[in-house]
Amino acid sequence: MPAPEPHPLPQRPSDLLLRKQSGQPIVILTAWDALSAAIVCEAGADAVLVGDSLAMTALGHATTLPVTLGEMLHHCRAVGRGLRAEGGGTPFVICDLPFLSYQCSLDEAIAAAGRVLKESPAVAVKLEGAEPETLAAIDRMVRMGIPVMGHLGLTPQSVHRLGFRRQATDPLAQERLSQQALALEARGCFALVVEHIPAALASDLCDRLRIPVIGIGAGDQCDGQVRVTADLLGLTDRQPPFASPLLDGRGLAVEALKEWKRQQRSPAARRAAPATSP
Ligand code: KIV
Repeated sequence: MPAPEPHPLPQRPSDLLLRKQSGQPIVILTAWDALSAAIVCEAGADAVLVGDSLAMTALGHATTLPVTLGEMLHHCRAVGRGLRAEGGGTPFVICDLPFLSYQCSLDEAIAAAGRVLKESPAVAVKLEGAEPETLAAIDRMVRMGIPVMGHLGLTPQSVHRLGFRRQATDPLAQERLSQQALALEARGCFALVVEHIPAALASDLCDRLRIPVIGIGAGDQCDGQVRVTADLLGLTDRQPPFASPLLDGRGLAVEALKEWKRQQRSPAARRAAPATSP
């Protein structure tokens, strides 16, 4: 049997809609530097998210709140340098707008999104929540030609209000989230991330929304999945309950380096080492 045709790489955010329409699952992975970008690119991600989770995974903060727009731009540019054209080109890049870069005023929100498109390789931004101010900002961004991805459910920028807990667990909260999802679609978002919500709710949203619903900890019936690559590779010391690591990347790296260190300290290795000049 001939191998199935590989799905063509989406060229731009709006192409994800065609993916949903043709029933092809969408795979998005995060990257935070050139090395991680090259890996997710080679693995065939449809799009790369420079998520503000890098505040925790790459910068060592306890939450995503401290990362600045300047830092996001710095990491996003590094990601762009790491992307490798594999046959069908490189996946497009989405960059998270960090906490308080879009909540203070409409003008600041547009300026922040504009900087991402002007000063980094990202072609789209992601914002959390659907408060009236956020919807207004999204509306204006979209009219200015800036593609926007929404994010509902567990929104880590609201960790001090929501915790890192599963969201929308009762009917009232589920109805509220559904209305927010419809509002984000109406404002022109090209896709919606839903994080840590019941699988049945995510699946219902996939049916109700025209735009792709990309899940993380939201069951396997979504139009696509997104994961924090550092979690999938087991590089972080703790992973959320919905991000089972595919391998113990951290353990493997530590063991390899310990073994190398043992070899360097063995008398045979010292004898074999070339003499260093004084
Ligand atoms: O910041 C991030 O990595 C994200 C994903 C969890 C979707 O927003």
